Amino acid sequence: MKTGLDGIADFDAWAAYYDLIHKGLPGEAEFYLGQAVKRQVAVLEIGCGTGRITIPLAMSGIAVTGLDNSAEMLAVCREKSTQVGVVPGKITLVEGDMRDFSLGNTFPLVLMTYRTFMHCLTPADQSACLVCIFRHLEPGGEMFFNVWMAKTEGLLAFPTSYQEDSIRLLESVPVPGEEVVIDHLYTAWRDDFEQCIHERHWMEEKDEQGNLLQEEELTMTRAWFTPREMEHLLCRAGFEIIALLGDFEGEALAPHHAEMVWHVRRPKQ
Ligand SMILES: C[S@@+](CC[C@H](N)C(=O)[O-])C[C@H]1O[C@@H](n2cnc3c(N)ncnc32)[C@H](O)[C@@H]1O
Repeated sequence: MKTGLDGIADFDAWAAYYDLIHKGLPGEAEFYLGQAVKRQVAVLEIGCGTGRITIPLAMSGIAVTGLDNSAEMLAVCREKSTQVGVVPGKITLVEGDMRDFSLGNTFPLVLMTYRTFMHCLTPADQSACLVCIFRHLEPGGEMFFNVWMAKTEGLLAFPTSYQEDSIRLLESVPVPGEEVVIDHLYTAWRDDFEQCIHERHWMEEKDEQGNLLQEEELTMTRAWFTPREMEHLLCRAGFEIIALLGDFEGEALAPHHAEMVWHVRRPKQ
């Protein structure tokens, strides 16, 4: 199917702001860390970013290979892991595209946190990513990942085109060690045909008197999925579904949930 979506968000521009504004979902970090620590096995993390999960995994003694296509996000991860004293060799960072990578080895566990899969915008990209991950799992190897659960009422909350009057201040975040705050403004709209949400974000850096020092605009487009669609994509790539949760506490997915947390496996043979 031909679509107008040929690109994937370039996270290089996000790297300087990412840790300030992206704290993850409640219970998410604990969930992923718990899965890895329980198994005590090497982890491949897809879209590891600035290491929000990667670094605590390594600090817990887990060997992690982190794949990301943003050199800048990986640079932040590298810098932070040096600062906190991660044991050299515990983290291997690879710059690569989750839709087309070949690491030459397989893993017993793959993690793809914080809705990273939603950055694969087309069915071709989504399948390519899942097939690549499948090939990097040992037979019987498992993957956990989460994506937003698209529901009619949630989608209808977005307008169908960019609306200047829907720009809102999401948060004012103090920058640690500096006497400045970042005002984070945002708007988003949906594209029903392409099945995605487009976002525009503005990072306004202000001094104590509220004077604007710097402003940067960042964009992002993410695909959305229904549970059934996700199930078809996973099965098409060869995965067995072990569980579909609706939160990070272990509750099975139900209509009131906002998140899909998938636990899948490469069949043993
Ligand atoms: C939502 S962030 C998640 C970062 C980190 N895992 C976390 O939980 O904070 C998504 C990450 O996926 C990366 N990413 C997006 N598209 C990618 C692609 N095609 N291949 C590899 N990484 C990609 C981005 O650079 C970004 O670091």
